[in-house]
Amino acid sequence: MQVDLNGVINHKYKQFNAKKEGHILLKGRSLIDPSDFTRDEFREIFDLAHQIVENPESYRKSCNGKILATLFYEPSTRTRFSFEAAMLRLGGQVIGFSEPNSSSAAKGESIADTIRTIECYADIAVMRHPKEGAPKVASQYISMPLINAGDGGHQHPTQTLTDILTIERLKGNVENKVYGFCGDLKFGRTVHSLIKFLSNYKGVRFILISPEELRVPEYIREEVIKKSGIPFEEVIEMEPYMGQLDFLYMTRVQRERFFNEEDYIRLKDRFILDADKMKYAKKETYILHPLPRVNEISTDVDADPRAQYFVQAKNGMYVRMALILKLLGIY
Ligand code: CP
Repeated sequence: MQVDLNGVINHKYKQFNAKKEGHILLKGRSLIDPSDFTRDEFREIFDLAHQIVENPESYRKSCNGKILATLFYEPSTRTRFSFEAAMLRLGGQVIGFSEPNSSSAAKGESIADTIRTIECYADIAVMRHPKEGAPKVASQYISMPLINAGDGGHQHPTQTLTDILTIERLKGNVENKVYGFCGDLKFGRTVHSLIKFLSNYKGVRFILISPEELRVPEYIREEVIKKSGIPFEEVIEMEPYMGQLDFLYMTRVQRERFFNEEDYIRLKDRFILDADKMKYAKKETYILHPLPRVNEISTDVDADPRAQYFVQAKNGMYVRMALILKLLGIY
């Protein structure tokens, strides 16, 4: 174990299994927005997630008899499969839909009625919805925990859990680092949630790389970044800044969020990270991406050890195992 003189975890992981005397209970809570939990509460989830990564087998019966419901009103691969795999690996079971037209939403049932019905059958639920705020509204009708798996262009808090677990496993902690965000920062809910989370930590700096039209929304710039006093730059080129970054968080320009196809076509390939551009990055500048990708990371980057996006996708399952265990009050 490497722990520095202040007891602060130093690097490359392992030591997050240091035990605390008392655990903070998160039983029955919902996770809709990164501001729903305190730093200490998130710490509990990450500590457990690190322990699960180290020894997943010891948790394989933890959720015996429990049921997770997945309500996906929008397509998903990673979030839905990782939640389902998480529950199955914990010994629980899964019900749900990945296509809203196969549920009574197709007959006009409200979200409130749907979630109240699901609560009759499940112990915990996960919802993805194209409308911003839909999971929050749903959570007000139930007492079981509800997890926001992405609401429109707003927030995606469990992607942030995935990102933070990955950052901690690579660098030990999130503080005192330069984070580059590149691509669609306007509609990118993963970016909004991650910025919101990181803005609570010291020594963090942001370089926001996007076309003018896809800059971060004003509420993120004014209410989150500036309010926290985080130093940041908004720039329109990637290469000149790559040498400063500890992490480069690439994002897809999302066709489904554009009203106008012409704008999408004009902007979609504005930033493409390839093996040539990786030469501008430091030896330990890690590349993250919530995925799915389209063209924004060339496949010739995949073999570079700094490319961590598939590791990130795997970490998503572990951290969701931890989240389920905490919200069900099992740990
Ligand atoms: N990162 C993410 O949310 O991926 P999916 O859309 O495949 O769930």
